[in-house]
Amino acid sequence: MKKTSVHPLLRFWAVLATALIANAVMATDSSPRERLLMDAGWKFHLGNEWGGGQNLAKAGAGIGPASVVFGDGSWRRVDLPHDWAVELPFDPKADAAHGYKPLGDAYPSTSVAWYRRTFALPAADAGRRLWLEFDGVFRDCTVFVNGWFAGHHESGYSGFRCDITDVATCGGTNVVAVRVDATQNEGWFYEGAGIYRHVWLVKTPPLAIAPDGVFVYSRFKDNVPVGAAEIHLEARLANAQATPADAAVRWELSGPDGKLLTTVSQTGRVDAASIGEVRQTTAIASPQLWSPETPALYRLVTTVAVGGRTVDRVETEFGVRTVAFDADRGFLLNGKPYVLKGTCNHQDHAGVGLALPDRLQYFRIAKLKEMGSNAYRTSHNPPTPELLEACDRLGMLVMDENRLVGSDALHLKWLDELVRRDRNHPSVAVWLLGNEEFTVGGTPDGGRVAATMQALVRRLDPTRPVTYNAAVGNEFTGINGVIEVRGWSYHIGKDNMDAYHTAHPQQPNVGSEQGSTVGTRGIYANDKDRGYVSAYDDNGQSWSNTAEEWMGFFDPRPWLSGGFVWTGFDYRGEPTPYGWPCINSHFGILDTCGFPKDNYWYYQSWWVAKPVLHLLPHWNWPGREGQEIDVRALSNCEDVELFLNGRSLGRQALKRTETLKWKAPYAPGVLSAKGFRGGQVVAETRVETTGAPAALQLTPDRATIDANGEDVAVITVAVADAQGRVVPVADNAVSFELQGPGRIIGVGNGDPSCHEPDVFVATVPLRTVPVGGWRWKKIASIYAENLPETGVSLDDSGWDKTDVTVESGPLGLREQGVFRTRFTVPAQDLAAPAVELYFGKIDGDGKVFLNGKQIGAAGNARSASIYDVKALLIPGENTIAVAIANYGPVAGVNQGVSLRMAESPAPVEWRRSVFNGLAQIIVQASKEGGTLRLTARSAGLQPATVLLQTKPVLPRPSVP
Ligand code: GAL
Repeated sequence: MKKTSVHPLLRFWAVLATALIANAVMATDSSPRERLLMDAGWKFHLGNEWGGGQNLAKAGAGIGPASVVFGDGSWRRVDLPHDWAVELPFDPKADAAHGYKPLGDAYPSTSVAWYRRTFALPAADAGRRLWLEFDGVFRDCTVFVNGWFAGHHESGYSGFRCDITDVATCGGTNVVAVRVDATQNEGWFYEGAGIYRHVWLVKTPPLAIAPDGVFVYSRFKDNVPVGAAEIHLEARLANAQATPADAAVRWELSGPDGKLLTTVSQTGRVDAASIGEVRQTTAIASPQLWSPETPALYRLVTTVAVGGRTVDRVETEFGVRTVAFDADRGFLLNGKPYVLKGTCNHQDHAGVGLALPDRLQYFRIAKLKEMGSNAYRTSHNPPTPELLEACDRLGMLVMDENRLVGSDALHLKWLDELVRRDRNHPSVAVWLLGNEEFTVGGTPDGGRVAATMQALVRRLDPTRPVTYNAAVGNEFTGINGVIEVRGWSYHIGKDNMDAYHTAHPQQPNVGSEQGSTVGTRGIYANDKDRGYVSAYDDNGQSWSNTAEEWMGFFDPRPWLSGGFVWTGFDYRGEPTPYGWPCINSHFGILDTCGFPKDNYWYYQSWWVAKPVLHLLPHWNWPGREGQEIDVRALSNCEDVELFLNGRSLGRQALKRTETLKWKAPYAPGVLSAKGFRGGQVVAETRVETTGAPAALQLTPDRATIDANGEDVAVITVAVADAQGRVVPVADNAVSFELQGPGRIIGVGNGDPSCHEPDVFVATVPLRTVPVGGWRWKKIASIYAENLPETGVSLDDSGWDKTDVTVESGPLGLREQGVFRTRFTVPAQDLAAPAVELYFGKIDGDGKVFLNGKQIGAAGNARSASIYDVKALLIPGENTIAVAIANYGPVAGVNQGVSLRMAESPAPVEWRRSVFNGLAQIIVQASKEGGTLRLTARSAGLQPATVLLQTKPVLPRPSVP
């Protein structure tokens, strides 16, 4: 929830001028806006010791880490994006749906965490609006800045902003603390935990473009892109000043070739403390249309000036295209029928969980495109912004999903923000309001709520259709009765889909969720004990279908628009159909690393035009000589002939969307196939029996990555035989060593039952020395200006001794007193990277002094107070004094005092076993540049080394 001095009510105002071709009103390219990435250099602590952190009685007095004076020196350093759930061990007692991670009510100490970061603001920032923008935090997050409460946001999937203008210190250091509580779920799948998307510090002048305040969309006559595109431009301006402002907005449009096409302007007045909207239209004569095959991107530069001076400038990528659904012809892209070859996906990847570096979004979208997929459903939540950027640029249509159906103020606000954030993306083709709302999906109230949501979406976006994923058959009650496009979650069959279509011939349809076949990569028999399922595409669940079943039903029914397979990639949680030891789903066409399972070639066969031919299973079956093995060919050829060691096992004709099957008596050697079209061989493939594991192979997806502190290389680790063939049953343990300017951020292998760590975290060794020898004395008032009792030279030998390790006391109600001790610190202790003074509990109201200097205010009776004292301690004797006034029953310095030396963490060794021959390791470049050298080792195997070059680039502007 953002805190803002801008009045939230929209103030529309009269247009003052007609369109004009601008001449040099605002010729500058630079912008007074700054948007600085704030991902690097956070401190992280897992634990719930400080409650909510918010002081509800007094402003600006955050508790524990939320206060300015807090020692986080022993906290671990992390860079964002970060998902702490990946770091947690698996626990068979934890929730299976969420991947057996210790999160939830039963795990309070691992379900809450704190992040802290200091940042400096130059004095010149005074007078600017300052914002912290969080793209996504899972979940229930409270933000404190300089001890002030700065915002609270519950949703784990929508972004939010905190206006920190008033509480920030310009010309000084600032502290942001973020409490994240992942106790509660929002879904029924792995949802991670932590600040798993980017954080930004945004600075603007007091009149600026509002957050997500640019909207550009194109229209054509009859929604068919012939001739010129009408371009609609909107800019929302936020005026935080106490006086109205006359603003001039200028829009510059450039084509995919970067050439300026046109410039248009509009002027208007924005009232004081208000948001105003400026609109204009223009045209692009013969636009290059965006599509997955031709992802042509235009660029819009929106500039705002007041009194001839540029106050803001924002760049927006957009595309020109039309989308629609037709009840008979199905989905239409740019006016023509276009079959949606889609996958549903959660944001979750091997090694990193939810915390995907941007490059991994591109990696995953590219994998899906290679398969022939052209559409992506962001199940079941608003996506990370960079996913949409990848889809815009690589060419992938998006079904953009809202998390929860609701027309209350909060859910409408989140829906409003989702549409405003994403509506410029050409990839976004359809909005999805919600998923399988079993309780309300079919009720009249469910229908009314969905109608309200749909109306809001239409107001905000006149160009895109709206759907809902309904897990019911031929039913037209509730949401189905009001929704523009009927979304089908499973329920294939004539009684359902055909009958529904006949009964509601005007309503378009889409297979918004289909498939849910389960299969484990490289496994060809169900194995409940190990939690594996066969990859033969034989495992549709009771509510779902095999790939062949749903594709066979959809293919002859163009009015269904195509569909979205559950899922493109495996994800943690939902270990269907088994449970422990299986900890992740098997629904993916690709596993959690993006390694294809056999069904990848099934979909590719029917989703691309080029000839495809794939054989399964692998051909390593020692001990099964002579036994019949179920062999299948996945292909789009007309005929396929199978050979075993050169001998034909028969040629078969292939019907559209079907799979060919043979029984082949096992003999080691070569299983091969030829695919024919028009009688000609157009494809050949082979599967060979390999030798024993002999060597490791490392293959990066890209040999050169950017030295920007963010870019990653995704490296395939393979175990090969002496001839370099990947051994499809290998499970060798591998260890990794990385040298050079970068780090390993995660490892995985796609094994749904693997309990090895995905990340290896260096823990900060903490050496604790108790501080004893305390004495105390009651005094009349601790509020006197100079308290001699807190000084260094005071003789306290006559004071009473007191044990500070007790639970409570010794001060009674309304008593005040000072507690003191002297202790010796050896010089070598001060060499530790961080030295903290730790109080188990300081009851009451008061102040803490070290060597005569006040270092903080006491008074958080609920939890530990920690002070960073490395710079304040001296080798030899030091003095602590704590002055306390008690307004409760009893008070004092309690539950122990200690000095904690945080040592440098020892380096960690990264390891991972391969699963059926493969594993994955993700390496991230630092900003330094240079060569990265990754070596993989495994007992008895020849090691492998790969060199990655890094390219010097300008890193994104970021908070130092
Ligand atoms: C659907 C649901 C998905 C997933 C899937 C598994 O009903 O929408 O989130 O749970 O089932 O088959």
